[in-house]
Amino acid sequence: MKNKIYQFPKGFFWGTATSAYQVEGGIRSNDWEASKQIPHPGKTCDHYHRFGEDFLLAKRLNQNAHRLSLEWSRIEPAKGQWDSAALQHYQRVLEFLKASGFTTFVTLHHFTNPVWVAEQGGWLAERTVEDFKNYVDKVAQSLGHLIDFWVTVNEPSVYAYMSFWQGIWPPFRKNPVTAWRVYRNLQRAHNQAYRIIHQYYPQSQVGFAQNIALHEAFWRDKLDAWASINYPFNRTKNDYLGLNQYFYHPKIGARKRFGLTDMGWVIHPPALYEVLLKLKKFNLPVYITENGLADARDDKRAAYINQYLAWAQRAISEGVDVRGYFYWSLLDNYEWPVKSADTGFDYKFGLVEVDFSDPALPRKVRPSAYEYGKICQTNSLILTPNS
Ligand code: BGC
Repeated sequence: MKNKIYQFPKGFFWGTATSAYQVEGGIRSNDWEASKQIPHPGKTCDHYHRFGEDFLLAKRLNQNAHRLSLEWSRIEPAKGQWDSAALQHYQRVLEFLKASGFTTFVTLHHFTNPVWVAEQGGWLAERTVEDFKNYVDKVAQSLGHLIDFWVTVNEPSVYAYMSFWQGIWPPFRKNPVTAWRVYRNLQRAHNQAYRIIHQYYPQSQVGFAQNIALHEAFWRDKLDAWASINYPFNRTKNDYLGLNQYFYHPKIGARKRFGLTDMGWVIHPPALYEVLLKLKKFNLPVYITENGLADARDDKRAAYINQYLAWAQRAISEGVDVRGYFYWSLLDNYEWPVKSADTGFDYKFGLVEVDFSDPALPRKVRPSAYEYGKICQTNSLILTPNS
């Protein structure tokens, strides 16, 4: 068997993704902090102070784009009150990225809400949709010139499911009807954000990041494709489609055929290809806004990235307009708890290792980060028979 070369389109974006609450540290006034029944991130990676060196690491690893999120509770700690220091901070962050040559992908909502939003009923309340509009307006006015791609909402279906149906995340509700209303409100919030951002920047690129799974069971897959692809994308306006791809659900009993991540998620690279093909009919550019795995030993990560990318490239060669890939995540970080035993720091998604005993300690670049770095540098992937 020979080596195989997979070439990516010219101008492809190579990066990593993070979210504010998971990496920044020191966030005090959101609904996660206010909840007693979940572990909190504390200082987590202290990325709030160390963003410069973290971005320089990403640059040294040949990345040319970066996805991050803004923390609404920092920017608007009380309704209608804008924190100019927080806005200045994000301005410095984005200026640093731009000056270092990164294209910026900025998420406006990544699971967390200001406490005052939660208190007024969170995403079940009509006025939250209105308030989100004001927040987006403020961000567009103050930071819009530094934002290349807008990701309005991260994974609306996951948020609605985990927070309002499974009841595992704040506000811990367990009602499918309620979850569906939240899902629709988030879609409305996205559409409003789309309009506002385009008023300020007519040429801007606005979308949202959708988590899309692949199911081996035919009807399960049909249903999920309707709920996570057709329904949301037909009801929303988008300049591009953002895809977070992590999940593959084999038929019951078939799990043993596949490798698992440290979180027990099934590794199945063709799932990315299959999901990308399902997005082709929308005729829009696609960015893989997240894909990655928890792998503390770093013994699966390089192969995971290689294989998922090889399948992405196959989708590209079959006409899906994929223009970028963001590995989740640049750093080990606070991971949203899913089991009662989770501490928030059990799962290591980072290309770069963080010592949480003292976030001031130096970061450690994992071997897989250099592997990914080669792909980013050459805009291509070489698979040897054993990779
Ligand atoms: C989320 C991230 C999260 C990752 C791993 C994604 O669904 O957007 O915030 O850390 O999955 O669970």
